[in-house]
Amino acid sequence: MSRWEDTVTRTAQEATRFWADASLTTLNQMMTPRWAWEAWLEIAAGVITEPGSVFEPGCGIGLLTDLLPPGCTYYGCDVNPLFVEEAAREHPGSDLRFEVRDLFDVLDSGETFDWIVVTSLFGMFPEQATYDMIPRFWAAARKGVSFTTIDKRLYASNRRLRFDFTAHDPGDLIRLVGSLAGVEATALRHGRDFPHFRGHYWQRCLALYAWRQGVEHAGPWEAREQVREEHGDGPEEGRTKVAGPRTYGSTLGAAIP
Ligand SMILES: C[S@@+](CC[C@H](N)C(=O)[O-])C[C@H]1O[C@@H](n2cnc3c(N)ncnc32)[C@H](O)[C@@H]1O
Repeated sequence: MSRWEDTVTRTAQEATRFWADASLTTLNQMMTPRWAWEAWLEIAAGVITEPGSVFEPGCGIGLLTDLLPPGCTYYGCDVNPLFVEEAAREHPGSDLRFEVRDLFDVLDSGETFDWIVVTSLFGMFPEQATYDMIPRFWAAARKGVSFTTIDKRLYASNRRLRFDFTAHDPGDLIRLVGSLAGVEATALRHGRDFPHFRGHYWQRCLALYAWRQGVEHAGPWEAREQVREEHGDGPEEGRTKVAGPRTYGSTLGAAIP
């Protein structure tokens, strides 16, 4: 079961409806504190070992775009028109595209992207639905995918919390992703890998990565640094927020073995 305050979602359709009608306030309350949210986005973006097209299903207000390596193009879709409007207003740029669209429509369309970065999408979806979605995202990814979620082993239902998000067992995730055709390498990062999160609620998060055969795979932070070195780090027009590592970046990088 997934729950945010009084809203309970039991099917993928209910989860989608919850989000389509959600307010910006609801999204902003979930993305709290913002530094931790953005830190996990940055960890998820670490799957990208070379510039290419990036798809973010359920893009929210487009925060991931600030954290992409230079040289990427980006397509984010979301069912919530308010979020998409905010994303487009805050993140102008010819290489960034936001659209009000159901992610299942994208998956059904047969479109493919180099990279698919799935961040904090699964929380309101039933667990089984998320296991069904993962192979579909993989099928649409030419180079690799990343997912962030919550570690089920560290997350017990707690009615005192305002929410009850879908969580995953890390072993189940790695087994599922490792069994997908064409996967050459996988990696799993735990919140505990990053000193930054210690003692913090969001240390319960996980990031899972999978890379295809023939695609360079590396530790997330090292991968980003390599892309920066090879392709420069200058802000592009309309993407002035794409800059060097944030202050927490070096901390995260140091944490990755
Ligand atoms: C918790 S937010 C995460 C937003 C963003 N990925 C981030 O991490 O900042 C989940 C997002 O998924 C979107 N979403 C949920 N179901 C969707 C669907 N079926 N198609 C497209 N977007 C969806 C929601 O509207 C919401 O913006």
